[in-house]
Amino acid sequence: MSDGPAPTDFASANARLAELEQALIADVASAQDAAAVDQVRAKYLGRHGLLQALWQVLPQMPPDEKPQFGQRLNTLKTQWTQAVEARRMALAAPAVDGPMLDLTLPGHPPAIGHRHPITQVIDQVLGVFERLGFAVIEGPEIETAFHNFDALNIPPDHPSREAFDTFFVNTTPETLLRSHTSPVQVRYLEAHADDPRPFRIVVPGRVYRPDALDASHCFQFHQIEGLVVEPGVTFADLKGLLAAFVQAVFGPATRLRFRPHFFPFTEPSAEADISCIFCRGHGCRVCGQKGWLEILGAGMVHPRVFAATRWPTASRGLAFGLGVERIAMLRYGIDDIRLFFENDVRFLHQF
Ligand code: PHE
Repeated sequence: MSDGPAPTDFASANARLAELEQALIADVASAQDAAAVDQVRAKYLGRHGLLQALWQVLPQMPPDEKPQFGQRLNTLKTQWTQAVEARRMALAAPAVDGPMLDLTLPGHPPAIGHRHPITQVIDQVLGVFERLGFAVIEGPEIETAFHNFDALNIPPDHPSREAFDTFFVNTTPETLLRSHTSPVQVRYLEAHADDPRPFRIVVPGRVYRPDALDASHCFQFHQIEGLVVEPGVTFADLKGLLAAFVQAVFGPATRLRFRPHFFPFTEPSAEADISCIFCRGHGCRVCGQKGWLEILGAGMVHPRVFAATRWPTASRGLAFGLGVERIAMLRYGIDDIRLFFENDVRFLHQF
């Protein structure tokens, strides 16, 4: 710092201020306690301090430079005071052991949930059918034997009515955990028997069977049932609807084939396969070299179902039922059904 006579022009006065500022910064940094800070404050900012001394040169300055220089002195007084007081506070703060709290670090984002993969598949399938004019209907998971079996033409001695194939809840009246979504066909028909009009419904829901748990069986899973009752509806309509459905869900190149099958509540009945989405029908491990994957059961509504629900027995309808887990497993390449129900977020986060 030059100790010569006080400068009288703006440029050299500014240069002097810059020198002072450097000196102040050094002095502030080396002050180790409150008394030292007081000394620095007195030296630069006190009534007889270095900054105050510069006010004395103001009268000697050219008149057009005076206002700017005065302003500069005022600004520096504020800045320097802040620097000195910040040092005082830093020295007063208690010493911190261990890592400092770093307020600039990003926070912990809250975990945001999303729909379960099964729900996503259900929503997608329902969306396809809603665009085809279907309404979405639901029914109870605890059912009567009448809705789950009798009205669907499943006789009392049918094997699916054995205790090892159905979870029974009560004996009188006989109630059970529904083993498929088809009882909702019965409920919907019953509810509209007095005013039988054409309709199209899809029914998503949980179903239960006392199967031993393994990679492809679980005691609970989901089905989506479909029922169309319209004059003149045929097996060709059933094929057309299901072809539109599999192409929407599995891609336009997917082929559909029907195999004859038996269900007591449809006649004729079929099981439907899609061309394997992994090998495009050439044969691979997933389809067991067959080139086809079974995905649903379907058929034309049996007249006895109309009779049991007090509909005109000449009514015509088509019905189908598909397993949601099966579709989700194929869609996402999942090889174990248990993953859907274990609530392991490492699995669920991937969808
Ligand atoms: N309810 C049948 C099942 O669970 C599927 C099905 C529904 C078949 C509708 C035909 C018509 O296997």
